[in-house]
Parts: sequence; structure tokens; C-alpha cells
Amino acid sequence: MSLVVLLSGRGSNLQAILDAGIAVSAVISNVAGAGGLEIAARRGIPARTVPHKAHATREAFEEVLIGEIDAFSPRLVVHAGFMRIVTAGYVEHYRWRSLNIHPSLLPSFTGLNTHERALAAGVKVHGCTVHFVTEELDGGPIVAQAAVPVLANDTPDTLSKRVLKQEHILYPKAIKWFLEDRLVIENGKVRVKGNDEKAFLFDRD
Ligand code: GRF
Repeated sequence: MSLVVLLSGRGSNLQAILDAGIAVSAVISNVAGAGGLEIAARRGIPARTVPHKAHATREAFEEVLIGEIDAFSPRLVVHAGFMRIVTAGYVEHYRWRSLNIHPSLLPSFTGLNTHERALAAGVKVHGCTVHFVTEELDGGPIVAQAAVPVLANDTPDTLSKRVLKQEHILYPKAIKWFLEDRLVIENGKVRVKGNDEKAFLFDRD
């Protein structure tokens, strides 16, 4: 079953997805030299770069990107550290077949620098969220979340490491549910068939 991963950087979530035994047909980066491309190459997975900077508009970039993705006829497109805002046209093209992972407990802290902002806000619990990609930035229906405590002496670095560890558990789980046809959208919300209680993780590590 074909799955394409989009990324922009080091690719630790890609690594976790592969380590979970999920077959990945291709990895596409908008940034040349991204660490995730090397992970793909080492595994013999087709790796492509579509540099957004080579295109004048988001639409022109996405036309090429969509062409590269669709060459693999994926059932699911996984955004794993893919640092581009996508257009309504892209969203429509991959409606209900594109997932993203965001390093906060949405709807808190959409956008960038989530760990810094969580610390500045003084929240006691932080985490990550897997959600469907929609027109609203980091705003699509939530599939699963993992929470971690915020400790008194945390820095953005220590907090991000604690969250990332959970990302690596949560994302493969959510992707497997999608591939097993267990994700049902009801009234704009996601239900995990037979597993709803497992859509939340809490880890003190
Ligand atoms: C992760 O924290 C992910 O939640 C965010 O970007 C980071 C990507 O890390 N969207 P990696 O490239 O998967 O290591």
C-alpha cells in the first residue's frame, strides 16, 4: 500500500515510521540536502527534491510537487516535518488522505516555535498532535495526541526532546490506523474504530 512522506529536515519521524515497519514508496523534500533524504536513500527508497524556492508562487511549486507525489499513486501523504503552508487546491487534492504531525497539543500553539511558546505561557502539560491536513493551518480534525509534563527546569531543547520521543510513538500508530481503514470522520471529528481510547498517550519520561 503506497505511502509518500513529505519533509524538510532531519527526518526523525520518517525514521520512526520506517522502524515501525510501515512501507514508504517515496520521500520528497522541499529542501535540498535534508537529512530525511539520506535516510530514504540508505533504505533504497526513491528520494526526490522539489525546491519551493525555484517557483514564483505556491501554486507553481505545488503543481510540480503534486506531480511527483502522484507518480507514486499514494493512498496516504504523510507530512513529517514538512515546513510549507499548502494551498486550498493542494488540500482538496489530498482531502482525507493527508496527515500532519504538529509539536503541540492543538488547538494550542499552532504555527512555529511551539516549545518556546509553551514554556513562555507556563503550561504544565505539552505534547504533539496528529491531524488531517485541511485549509486551516494546524487546524484539521485531530486523530491522536500525546501529552508530556512540562518540568520546572525545562528549556525549549529538553522539552522538544520529550515531545519528539512521543511523536515517534504516536505518528506510526496513527498512520497504521489510517492504513487499516480505522479512521472515521463523524461531524468533522475523527473516531478510531475499535481503538478510541488509544488515541491519547501520556508519558512522564
Ligand atoms: C517535528 O517536531 C514535527 O512535529 C514538526 O517538525 C519536526 C520534524 O522533525 N512538524 P523530524 O524532521 O521528523 O526529525
